[in-house]
Amino acid sequence: MTTTIHLHTRFQVGPVDPRVFGGFLEHLGRAVYQGVYQPGSKHADSKGWRTDVIEALDRLQFTAMRYPGGNFVSGYHWMDGVGPRNERPTVRDLAWSSLEINEVGTNEFMDLSRKLNWTPMLAVNLGTGTPEEARNWVEYCNIPCGSKYADLRIGHGFEHPHQVKLWCLGNEMDGPWQIGHVPADAYAIRAQQAARMMKMTDPDLELVVCGSCAPDLPTYLHWDRTVLEHVRDDVDYISLHRYVGNEKDDTPDFLAVTKSIDEQIEETAALCRFVQRARKTRKRINLSFDEWNVWYRARSGDDVDGRGKLAPHLLEEHYNLEDAVVVMGFLNSFVRHADVVKIANLAQIVNVIAPILTRGDEMLIQSIFYPIEMMTKRRTGTSLQVAVEGPTYESKSYGKTQFIDSSAIMNGNTISVFAANRDIEKVTTVRIKVADVAIESLIDAEILVGQGPKDANTFEAPNRVQSQPFDKVCIKNGVAEFEMPPLSMFAGTFQI
Ligand code: AHR
Repeated sequence: MTTTIHLHTRFQVGPVDPRVFGGFLEHLGRAVYQGVYQPGSKHADSKGWRTDVIEALDRLQFTAMRYPGGNFVSGYHWMDGVGPRNERPTVRDLAWSSLEINEVGTNEFMDLSRKLNWTPMLAVNLGTGTPEEARNWVEYCNIPCGSKYADLRIGHGFEHPHQVKLWCLGNEMDGPWQIGHVPADAYAIRAQQAARMMKMTDPDLELVVCGSCAPDLPTYLHWDRTVLEHVRDDVDYISLHRYVGNEKDDTPDFLAVTKSIDEQIEETAALCRFVQRARKTRKRINLSFDEWNVWYRARSGDDVDGRGKLAPHLLEEHYNLEDAVVVMGFLNSFVRHADVVKIANLAQIVNVIAPILTRGDEMLIQSIFYPIEMMTKRRTGTSLQVAVEGPTYESKSYGKTQFIDSSAIMNGNTISVFAANRDIEKVTTVRIKVADVAIESLIDAEILVGQGPKDANTFEAPNRVQSQPFDKVCIKNGVAEFEMPPLSMFAGTFQI
């Protein structure tokens, strides 16, 4: 079996926004407490950050980091998380039935963001919070001095503004589970008021309005249309969320889900164009895919109910090889749609549906870590159109599907190609042809191979699924060729 990936250096989709390789840290389960922050750990630095976790996160080079939620944010009051720690209240988080001690808040998150070179992306509370509370937070973060909240920040020991330019107007407000959920037009009015006050406080903000958080909700696209018709010129991005899973234990079908991610992006982008045209506005709204991942096992019962505890074990998904292939599929889809997807956030980064798990002082790198690492290293440049010519299979839910899922990024005289082999049985020969230039040489490449779809890393066997350097690429007459084992992932950079 042979698949050819056809590229042309002039057939460009658009520059890949680095923020597409973003992450998400929510006050949920053990993401913050016992995840990034654990003062009692032997790995803790002087501020309580876990240095082992930080080193692992550093390898993923996350860009935009969304914080502090998620469902959590719809009941969160940012003032609870600033000022002297011994004066901060312990409160009940209703979203995850947990206890929140507020030891980590805005200033601590900013400290972590600076350490890891993250672009902070704060979500305001539009569930129980007010537009005014949202704009006060902008003042606290961004205004140098001379007014109430700016001076409060200075009083808390932070003389220089944090300069947070990227903000989300609430979270999943279309979801009936969301605290403060309202119909689309009611949310849109709230979002518009918040957006205007926030931009009056700092005109340089970029704002993300809540779009549909799942394509299977009955309000999918209707919600987006109503919201955009109200807020159009006040916001810059509309959000999309997506969690997928292999509930039916049908691996080929699960692996084909990437096709529906393409569709979700294309449908939402089309809706944005429609509203733009219908309302005769020149402003383009782009997409912020600000929650995405595989999540289906730890999704009900005790896995989502914190039972009033601090840092309960919630949403602790254990990932395997097939999940990693789907994760590469998400990223391939974002790269293929670089013209419209400008921000995307892996949900989440530690312990909660995450590539990294902690257990006491131990840390485990899960399978999904690797495709992210393989791609983020090679993320700089312009996305090229990818024409994949090769064998296909019939997926029950998504129809005809290419075995090879791919994307490509050109950066000067180099092209990086990403490919996932969805064939669970056969080796596939992959050829890369760039129509207008010859591939000169391989600069470097990695491959991820496992022992079957359910192969996974555990604390007892932590290195079963991991990427390794790969040089078995043959370049002849300007065409690259290599073999991909079943269910494998490739990322390679070529000189052209
Ligand atoms: O990421 C976990 C949860 O999934 C988030 O809190 C929520 O926004 C989504 O439903």
